[in-house]
Amino acid sequence: MRKIVIAIDGYSACGKSSTAKKVAEILGYSYIDSGAMYRAVTLFFLENHITLTNDKEVAKALQNIDIDFRTSRRSAHNSDTYLNGLNVEREIRKMEISNSVSQVSSIKSVRGAMVNQQRKLGRKKAVVMDGRDIGTVVFPDAELKVFMLADVNIRAERRQQELFERKEVISFNRIVKNLKMRDEIDTSRTESPLRQALDAVVVNTTFMTLEEQVDEVVNLALNKILA
Ligand code: DC
Repeated sequence: MRKIVIAIDGYSACGKSSTAKKVAEILGYSYIDSGAMYRAVTLFFLENHITLTNDKEVAKALQNIDIDFRTSRRSAHNSDTYLNGLNVEREIRKMEISNSVSQVSSIKSVRGAMVNQQRKLGRKKAVVMDGRDIGTVVFPDAELKVFMLADVNIRAERRQQELFERKEVISFNRIVKNLKMRDEIDTSRTESPLRQALDAVVVNTTFMTLEEQVDEVVNLALNKILA
């Protein structure tokens, strides 16, 4: 059967990762969370006190960063993010990282390094990758491009619940503020800003359940695979 690349882009907390993970599981594809890569870089920069405006320091730090994904012990269908051999899956989802990740991911050299790695991970196809620039920059020839959006209050509710499940209690207003700040930085940055690719299918998840989102993307994918 024909193998394709599925690119899912969109705003923060629209359900991209949860949908992408399930779609990959159903199709037997691999799932790559490109946001996790930017989060891991952010964690490294914060831990090592890297000055974001110092190009040399940033370039040197990037040479010391190795990111990979390994099957999670929690479930064979999930993978965890490893930074230099250490499992950082929980660490990178914390609010502290969410507050800095958009700044780090707007640095040109950071994007260059991550995009190279993402292209390598997707070169054999049969991959679902989610992020902000997957359909526009990383895989402009992806067979299926999905652009996800949702009302910011719904997104904040979902993110609050997710954080709560990870035992992090954050106020609704702080989450809305963080999402709006990230939307603003992600869409207005010079380096590969978040944009809807011209050939992307828009999926508005405001009133959709996860199951409905997954069904929609799987159907779109099957249309391409069986075409
Ligand atoms: O998908 P996420 O919220 O975990 O992504 C974290 C941040 O990383 C997001 O605010 C923007 C950045 N990002 C990016 O710039 N490009 C990508 N392909 C994926 C994420």
